[in-house]
Amino acid sequence: MRGPDHSCRRSGVAFTPVARTQTLYVCRACGGEALKWQGQCAHCREWDSLEAVTAVRGTRERAGLSAASSASSGLAEGAADAGAQTRLTFGMAELDRAFGGGLVAGSVTLLGGEPGIGKSTLLLQVAAALAAEQVIVYASGEESVPQIGLRARRLGLAGAQLLLVSDGSLDAILALAAEREPALLVIDSIQTMRLAASESSPGSPLQLRDCTAALVRYAKGSGCAVILVGHVTKDGSIAGPKLLEHLVDTVLYFESDAGSRYRMLRATKNRFGPVNELGFFAMSETGLKEVRNPSAIFLSRHPQPVPGSVVMVARDGGRPLLIEVQALVDRSRFAAPRRVAQGVDANRLSMLLAIMSRHAELPLADYDVFVNLVGGIEISETSTDLPLALALASSLRGRALSDAPVVFGELGLTGEVRPVAHGEERLRELIKLGYKRAIVPRDNLPRSPPAGLALHPVASLGEALAAAFAAS
Ligand code: TYD
Ligand code: MG
Repeated sequence: MRGPDHSCRRSGVAFTPVARTQTLYVCRACGGEALKWQGQCAHCREWDSLEAVTAVRGTRERAGLSAASSASSGLAEGAADAGAQTRLTFGMAELDRAFGGGLVAGSVTLLGGEPGIGKSTLLLQVAAALAAEQVIVYASGEESVPQIGLRARRLGLAGAQLLLVSDGSLDAILALAAEREPALLVIDSIQTMRLAASESSPGSPLQLRDCTAALVRYAKGSGCAVILVGHVTKDGSIAGPKLLEHLVDTVLYFESDAGSRYRMLRATKNRFGPVNELGFFAMSETGLKEVRNPSAIFLSRHPQPVPGSVVMVARDGGRPLLIEVQALVDRSRFAAPRRVAQGVDANRLSMLLAIMSRHAELPLADYDVFVNLVGGIEISETSTDLPLALALASSLRGRALSDAPVVFGELGLTGEVRPVAHGEERLRELIKLGYKRAIVPRDNLPRSPPAGLALHPVASLGEALAAAFAAS
């Protein structure tokens, strides 16, 4: 075995780590390393995921406290520092919300989303807005400075202190940032960046990992917030090793229903705030605008109540949302009837159909069943059970619910209606949107019912059907 410091054989020579190149195998899925190729990654057990990279070894920093890192003398002092944590506000409440209350200085955020969804547009708007007061660097490896400038002009943006850079060299971008000390550094996108020290090509797992790690080091050392754009793969996850998500503080996904102008920004990881917070935006001619009353997106406005449609209050992304649930049942011409669920779990739908057949004498076995949540949202909580069951019954009977009630509640296998969390918050939301009638689980009934709202507490599916189709 060789000694670790064979580079300083002569005394008086300063220690310089020797850079040697070595072929390494890096897992595309987790970023784990192996010294020789093998069919399965030893770290994450993924098959056929190892890729050969030429890595420069020996130049990495040794473990231990580097000069830049600081140690506090105790928890009390650390907590005092945390109290002073500064957050930049974006000037868009929906965006602040997705970030858990604004952008934390020195934090690193990964923003994922499909091409064309508006990641660059959003970040350029944000950068320009913040650049009125602070230095902001927007570095793009995808577009030239005139292209970005053109877009900024079209969006009517003016950022006095916005520095636009078009470069794929992260070394150059970090050197510029070290010189100008921006409050925010935007990297669009991490897949187009390369570090000179990392010899693999841009977008390769090792390059992605090294670039992200360099940006995390820069952010923590300087207090500059960094936002990285990440491309997504076909299955919707951020391209590159899963490790990227572990390296950064916050992971946000920009999502939208195909063809819709509405966009949702969801935090799937946040070291500085709650996860699953949702922010809503709409893409317009002049960029992204925040949507302050998102419930309106998920309601289709019928002039009159129609069969098969029920409005519910779901709770997603830490906020109540009014959503229209639609159901269509039609006599099946096939031996195996179709079951299509958009926005809700298909297994949950099968369970509901069984409960309806058993406990409400609504046999739907010979019917094709389609259910849909308006606006392309997906809801995984159980409060969709009761509204879905009533929408199915309404479609089957060809009769709209009387007096357009708002409905929420979970259904148990014995046909009982079970309470759901945050009942009062849901009621407040439906009152805010002008609804006057609600069918709710009995155990969700508030102690003092809100004025102006007719509440129908129900304990079973049978009671709910009676309340929903009462002669008005
Ligand atoms: P972009 O921000 O380039 O998407 P990403 O960076 O996520 O790939 O968004 C491009 C799309 O947005 C493009 O299809 C055009 C549309 N768009 C508008 O509708 N209005 C606008 O003001 C802008 C700038 C873009
Ligand atoms: Mg882009």
